[in-house]
Amino acid sequence: MTETQTFSIASIPGDGIGGEVVAAGLRVLDTVAKLSEGTIAFEITEYPWSSEYYLEHGHYVPEGGLEELQGHDAIYFGAVGSSEVPDHTSLWGLRLAITQPFDQWANIRPVTFLPGVESPLRKADDTDLDWVVVRENSEGEYAGMGGRNLSGRGPGNEVALQTSLHTEKGCERIIRFAFDLARTRAVKKVSSVTKSNAQQYGMVLWDEVFTRIAKEYRDVETESVLVDAMSAKFVLHPEDLSVVVASNLHADILSDLGSALAGSLGLAASANLNPEKRFPSMFEPVHGSAPDIAGQGVSNPIGAISSASLMLDQFGLTAEALQIRQAIENVTGAGILPRDLGGDSNTLEMTEAIVAQLEAIHAQTPVPSTVK
Ligand code: NAD
Ligand code: IPM
Ligand code: MN
Repeated sequence: MTETQTFSIASIPGDGIGGEVVAAGLRVLDTVAKLSEGTIAFEITEYPWSSEYYLEHGHYVPEGGLEELQGHDAIYFGAVGSSEVPDHTSLWGLRLAITQPFDQWANIRPVTFLPGVESPLRKADDTDLDWVVVRENSEGEYAGMGGRNLSGRGPGNEVALQTSLHTEKGCERIIRFAFDLARTRAVKKVSSVTKSNAQQYGMVLWDEVFTRIAKEYRDVETESVLVDAMSAKFVLHPEDLSVVVASNLHADILSDLGSALAGSLGLAASANLNPEKRFPSMFEPVHGSAPDIAGQGVSNPIGAISSASLMLDQFGLTAEALQIRQAIENVTGAGILPRDLGGDSNTLEMTEAIVAQLEAIHAQTPVPSTVK
């Protein structure tokens, strides 16, 4: 009798296109389970926490919600953001309300160039480009520390303070993570990004920690680049990049730039990891709720589906994860593209094409699922 490995997943579609891209990813996971012939099962529990839910109940995550999430092996997230709720309320109410208490301090955002997808970079045509943005995901500019005051002095006199928090421990753990990741890659190099010329406290601490940790990884090439120069480097010399480690805000911006250079924001995947596994990790596309196309069924599901493949990596299902990535490449390589990439396939058609490729790949090389 074959034993079934069951993984429990909390799904939070959220707002806008979150629902359609999460549905696409779950459809792919369902296919993985079906093709495993009973050796893999995914138990999905959907949580309806969205901006609509917030407007009705006054909160995104209800009391006891985090404890419930903690009972799952992973969280699969869509996006949050609505014109009905201020963005800082929705993001602190849902996305950051999960990443912060679950100490998901490492945010991995691969920049992947797919066959058949046109990049705005001329170099992409004849150079193999592939890098990963490693985002510090627990502190920095997103520490949420500060306040607004002095409004008593009358209109026009308010003062706001938004403080960045950089701890030596926080810098060290994300920098080590980046070095360990670099060791698993063909090009063993870490580029550290700061703005330590202007920000002389927190970012200088980061630089010093980077220099200290680098000495333990003599086999890994290193460079320290200022964030403004790094944004130029993304465009002009992307072939020099392998692992790029940066603070919360810098990596947020650089990961959108990276995904746009790969062709579209709709392609980019992301994993919010708690590497110690004290809490479940959360997998989500990099993009937001895309209100401009929400409800039309035309969103690109590749970012969400690739994020599901990162979740499978985390579960130890690396062969299945690879097959998903191969299926995506086969589909784009065959010229089947969504609207944001210049094609005319809608979300459902893209998903079905990826599912069909997954079935075809599996028929050729079934995953040896019992030897795990
Ligand atoms: P966005 O990522 O939602 O959209 C930016 C542009 O990219 C839009 O033109 C959109 O149509 C396009 N796009 C994004 N994903 C796409 C996809 N899968 N397929 C095709 N096109 C896609 O960013 P924004 O417009 O700055 O933000 C919209 C809302 O989402 C805001 O409320 C913002 O705060 C929120 N947001 C949430 C998250 C998150 O939940 N992780 C991330 C980013 C932004
Ligand atoms: C992302 C988003 C979020 C972030 C926002 C919406 C808070 O832009 O996941 O990239 O910056 O963390
Ligand atoms: Mn972002």
